Amino acid sequence: MTADHLLLERIESALSGLLPAISKMEGGRAVEAAAYSLTAGGKRIRPTLLLRTAAMFDIEETVAMPFAAALEMIHTYSLIHDDLPAMDDDDTRRGRPSNHKAFGEANAILAGDGLLNLAYETMLAAIRDNPDEKRIEAASIIGRAAGFHGMIGGQCLDLEEERPHDPEQALRLIQQKKTGALISAAVLAGAALGGASDDVREALLLFSDNLGLAFQIKDDLLDVQSTSKKLGKTVGKDQRDDKLTFVTWYGEAKAERFFSETMQRAKEGLERAAKAGLDVTDLASIWHYLEQRDY
Ligand code: IPE
Ligand code: IPE
Ligand code: MG
Ligand code: MG
Ligand code: MG
Repeated sequence: MTADHLLLERIESALSGLLPAISKMEGGRAVEAAAYSLTAGGKRIRPTLLLRTAAMFDIEETVAMPFAAALEMIHTYSLIHDDLPAMDDDDTRRGRPSNHKAFGEANAILAGDGLLNLAYETMLAAIRDNPDEKRIEAASIIGRAAGFHGMIGGQCLDLEEERPHDPEQALRLIQQKKTGALISAAVLAGAALGGASDDVREALLLFSDNLGLAFQIKDDLLDVQSTSKKLGKTVGKDQRDDKLTFVTWYGEAKAERFFSETMQRAKEGLERAAKAGLDVTDLASIWHYLEQRDY
């Protein structure tokens, strides 16, 4: 488990509480579609990482929660759009028909846009209520990781039809950006809220950068090693769609090796953070969960 049950419950309840009421005059169908995907489960790894990191600096959960929830909204929007016919064209997500299958493409686009907007509304409300540099920095870290420099940039490269001329370098960059960026932002935004020192931030950057890349290498591995039932999404599609992934490029055995090496580097980051005086117990247990995850 990434988090105790109660933490997961609090994340779920924060997410549900932030969704607007479904009103026909105020985007009702798109809100319904957003709620459908946002409350469909998911591992909640990003908000968990943010809350656990902030807690290492004694930041109260109520302070960190708006940023954790915003990050999960951005992630969920990215999944809704990732599944669209124009992108990966996937029919299943989080164990249900994907958003556009249930609500149609137009509503899926609007639901994604709405969640992205709600993420910023949520962070800005937290900053308005308690203006301080740390909250502003956390929001900036999340914003940058979600945008052209991060997730969107990665998705754009992922969808390019032409093979890049240096596929190995491109592959690393794509996986780091499309997935690594938001995972790393979870940790770094938590550290920003906590006012972490430069050397602690450096250690956490080493941890989270590698954890994020490893997370996507595992996603690539699970696409060939797991089942749709277990993952709640279609498997075996990367090969069929001719995607550049760690498995399609290097093969399963080498991808496994990259996964272990990358996780090892993440662990070094944690060890450095511990040496700098942080109690990294909770992050270490997330590391273990991600090392062993099979969904
Ligand atoms: C899936 O993310 C897509 C990637 C970025 C690899 P998750 O594996 O975190 O999906 P959920 O949130 O648990 O559904
Ligand atoms: C998705 O990567 C990354 C983002 C949504 C940003 P994938 O396309 O590999 O994710 P899955 O396998 O559909 O969950
Ligand atoms: Mg994709
Ligand atoms: Mg996909
Ligand atoms: Mg995948």
